[in-house]
Amino acid sequence: MKIDLTGRSAAVTGGETGIGLGIARSLALAGAHVLIGGILEDEGARAVAEIHALGGRAEFLKTDVRHAAQVEALVDAAAAATGKVDIVVNNAGVFDGFASCLETSERLWDQVIDINLRGVFFGCQAALRRMVPQGYGRIINTSSVGGLRGSADGLAYTASKWGIIGLTKQAACVYAENGITINAICPGVIATEIRKNSGIVLGADAPNMQRGVGVDPESFKKNVPAKRRGSPQEVGDAVVFLASEQAGYINGQALAIDGGWTAT
Ligand SMILES: NC(=O)c1ccc[n+]([C@@H]2O[C@H](COP(=O)([O-])OP(=O)(O)OC[C@H]3O[C@@H](n4cnc5c(N)ncnc54)[C@H](O)[C@@H]3O)[C@@H](O)[C@H]2O)c1
Repeated sequence: MKIDLTGRSAAVTGGETGIGLGIARSLALAGAHVLIGGILEDEGARAVAEIHALGGRAEFLKTDVRHAAQVEALVDAAAAATGKVDIVVNNAGVFDGFASCLETSERLWDQVIDINLRGVFFGCQAALRRMVPQGYGRIINTSSVGGLRGSADGLAYTASKWGIIGLTKQAACVYAENGITINAICPGVIATEIRKNSGIVLGADAPNMQRGVGVDPESFKKNVPAKRRGSPQEVGDAVVFLASEQAGYINGQALAIDGGWTAT
């Protein structure tokens, strides 16, 4: 089986860094035209240049997923390339710095839920408005292993990632007859700069961002059977499959990409 996304249009939120960049790169190398939406403009320009240098097609549009109109504009821009949007990856997210229930301020809760969960809702709405009339679409939402268990991550982060899976499963059932699949991915420990980037976005709302320093950074060697972190490309390549025509009978799933962590 060869996956060819030539002629497909994709939008990836939070695609300027980390896992999102891995996804954008993998989709572009499989032939898709990729619109990257995010808030870090310098990183967005660098991501586009990197994909162009590899021979792929990509553009960046400044997009804050806290605003439905901006997410809608991103999906419209993706559709401008080919007249339709085939693939939407709702990946933008922030980490809350391991804040427990008592450490979570109302403001931190609102920010994390706004970006991680409400942003995915906006992305699904924008995608479905186009995909339902088209009769075809692939939506992939980035949850986390933190959405599959009571995690050592923060309270708001864990709640947002569980919420993404609920949203994914509900919508998957409703739109299955429209030729649309909606799945979640649940990365485990992936090598990215999520703490640094989340610190930029959340600022003083996430005062405990550095608290993870006290958590053993090598704990994956004990917890993860693969005994290593995953790479953004490994997540991107899994997304290419979920985004392909060939994955049309996979729907409403929460796929762990975690080196076997949740199998333990
Ligand atoms: N790194 C991991 O180990 C891991 C594990 C499980 C899940 N995840 C999830 O993967 C996704 C990507 O995280 P990452 O690790 O690549 O970190 P990252 O910080 O590199 O990526 C997050 C991206 O989201 C963008 N973003 C943040 N707020 C935004 C907003 N309001 N509007 C638009 N874009 C916004 C950031 O600019 C950044 O590009 C997140 O949803 C994260 O929760 C990461």
